[in-house]
Amino acid sequence: MNILIIGDVIGRAGRRALKALLPELIKEYDIDFIVSNAENAAGGFGLTLKVYEELSSLGIDVFTSGNHIWDNKEIFSFIDQKENVLRPINYSKENIPGRGFGLFRKKDKNILIINAMGRVFMGSNLENPFFMVKDIISQYEFDLCLVDFHAEATAEKYAFALYMEHEFPEKANKICIYGTHTHVPTADNFIFPSGMAYVTDIGMTGAWHSIIGTSYDAISKYLTGLPVRFEVDSSQGILNAILLKAQDKIESIQRFQIFENVV
Ligand SMILES: [Fe+2]
Ligand SMILES: [Fe+2]
Repeated sequence: MNILIIGDVIGRAGRRALKALLPELIKEYDIDFIVSNAENAAGGFGLTLKVYEELSSLGIDVFTSGNHIWDNKEIFSFIDQKENVLRPINYSKENIPGRGFGLFRKKDKNILIINAMGRVFMGSNLENPFFMVKDIISQYEFDLCLVDFHAEATAEKYAFALYMEHEFPEKANKICIYGTHTHVPTADNFIFPSGMAYVTDIGMTGAWHSIIGTSYDAISKYLTGLPVRFEVDSSQGILNAILLKAQDKIESIQRFQIFENVV
């Protein structure tokens, strides 16, 4: 089966690029299942019900997220009802809405999807994602497991992937660990010796000639040090994604970077 995984979708430019490019991609690559990180999908900050429905109508099956998922307070009104919206698993267990993983079924395959957040330069109050994800992977049977590891530091992302490979040598060829959050794609889409698929960051789907999706106005933050309100850039979009081919095990991991046509 062919699975498309899309990195952080940033505001209107990201959604516009998806609308323009996704139908063609689904057809051309015979895509069976789509996962997207949606933490910045609504105006750059979080996810609203309207945007959730808009992206669902494009064929996205499961949404993962990250630190920005709570930015738009509307998420609190629907995250518990939507089983296909995940937030990072490694918050404390105390009354946190939503869920950090889910089992999904497509084409007779059980797909376990886990969303976790790194802690280096991210949030020291988070629980340890290494142990929390390991617990879930050891508890569930699956044909394929996708882990969105939403993190800043490349070394933490590699450490996380190698730890999972080390802990699950028998299951590694059914696991794909991919990074999100930096909005910048990395060229290290590998199949590890164990058969595990990996990429450090998929990159964003949003305006490419921008400060990782936000407009140039945010430059004053770097010039003056004063806080600035980020606005999403709406110029030409780019779609960054990976295509995973898998049958009994993962066969390949391929990167896509496609520019939105502008007239
Ligand atoms: Fe993001
Ligand atoms: Fe993030």
